[in-house]
Amino acid sequence: MVNQTATNDDRPDRPFELRWIPVLAGAFAVLVAVSAMWALTLDRAPAGRAESFAGLGGEFTLTAHTGEPVSLSDFRGQVVLIYFGFTYCPDVCPIHLTLISAALDRMGRRAQDIQPLFVTVDPARDTPEAMAPYVSYFADNLIGLTGAEEEVLGVASAYAVGRQIVGDPAADDYTINHSSVIYVVGREGEIIDLLNADVTPDQLAAQLRRLL
Ligand code: NI
Repeated sequence: MVNQTATNDDRPDRPFELRWIPVLAGAFAVLVAVSAMWALTLDRAPAGRAESFAGLGGEFTLTAHTGEPVSLSDFRGQVVLIYFGFTYCPDVCPIHLTLISAALDRMGRRAQDIQPLFVTVDPARDTPEAMAPYVSYFADNLIGLTGAEEEVLGVASAYAVGRQIVGDPAADDYTINHSSVIYVVGREGEIIDLLNADVTPDQLAAQLRRLL
């Protein structure tokens, strides 16, 4: 057997150097491909993330629960959390606003850098006067935002918020199905992440610490 192998290896039509060319070429191709993939991963991870939010969100001006106009750009230099909902929401909005408040409490002084906003999807019922006691119940610095229906729906549309009225909007007991995502807006006004609100306060605080 040893002899047979030696004979095959020493075939005159396949000298040692030539036999290794396809192997080396293959190994080189794999190396190039892996390097390229690695470089793409490194280069594009942050950009790819930002790109995935391109066209989403943006500047808006609405009316705060104090009656004052408030623009997203008023918070330039801070991280802004935006949650869309409505004060008549029976359970989901209160749970999520409590979550945001509790997460910010756990962050201590670092939370001073974060401004939470609650934008209504129900401008017909959520007047500034209706929102004022509601938002102050959850957090001292939570700002409620409302406005004319076309203004509010324009913002909801820009942020791709799902909104569906259930019941008769002319009656006063309708409810609204809405998406419940926490939008994280970076210091330049761009969306940097969308967070699931079905987490614990500790989990949300940990995610926010990573984003600051
Ligand atoms: Ni809700």
